[in-house]
Amino acid sequence: MSRQPSSASRRSTTRRYLMCRPTYFAVDYAINPWMDPSAPVDTELAISQWTTLRDTYRELGHRVDEIEPIPGLPDMVFAANGATVIDGVVMGSNFRYAERAAEAPAYLNWLDEAGFDTHEAKYVNEGEGDLLLTRRFLLAGTGFRTDHAAHAEAQELFGRPVITLQLVDPRFYHLDTALTLLGGDDSIAYLPESFSESSQKVLRQLFPDAILATADDAGVLGLNAVSDGRHVVLPAQAKVFADQLAERGYVPVPVDLSELRKAGGGPKCCTLELREA
Ligand code: ARG
Repeated sequence: MSRQPSSASRRSTTRRYLMCRPTYFAVDYAINPWMDPSAPVDTELAISQWTTLRDTYRELGHRVDEIEPIPGLPDMVFAANGATVIDGVVMGSNFRYAERAAEAPAYLNWLDEAGFDTHEAKYVNEGEGDLLLTRRFLLAGTGFRTDHAAHAEAQELFGRPVITLQLVDPRFYHLDTALTLLGGDDSIAYLPESFSESSQKVLRQLFPDAILATADDAGVLGLNAVSDGRHVVLPAQAKVFADQLAERGYVPVPVDLSELRKAGGGPKCCTLELREA
């Protein structure tokens, strides 16, 4: 058996993130099984949990920009869905549901003004919710939100080899709820049963050393985590995952985003990585 790397060997790289304060956060509609519009939501608590997440990134040395939240767009806090940004090139989002459609131009305008090379998307895609960049591949989820056709669109725009992955469990409707990028040596973690049998086979071939998450941890959106190659900012409730990461030499950084989970989101959903040219 190969020796596990120690935490001294895991190096972080400085990242730039875009986030959106949950000023208007609410659960007014249900577009995933986590959302129950009849359950109470504490917007103040959501804001304080989100602020802790933002400050955690800054303490880790990352740059966080903020986009102005827009009234009437309660899910705009989930910045990961706003776009996909690779090498300074932006593929705009094109949301599956009308409730979120107005978020796409808001993010595209912000990125345009920030100097990125923006492109509107033709097919339905929900940004980094379903498009996750590893060193070798652009992993692309489909099944609930992003259209398969958007995968080919992304491959043409970014020139990165796209690997299509079929999601099968409605609780894990975006790829970033079923799979975590760990960075560095191109490692990932995922919940096998949230993918089709054939997609599991693909993941086993490409990532034979992946961490296999537990259903309990995925069930608290534990896989919706953000890594800089060394630190992994993850939902505090995902205890086994934190131990699995520590065993592999990562430094787990737990944050509590329980209020945002009522909309089906966690740390990764709140975070759009801006990869400059
Ligand atoms: N309520 C939002 C939706 O269903 C949650 C989005 C979570 N974002 C994510 N990247 N998984 O669209």
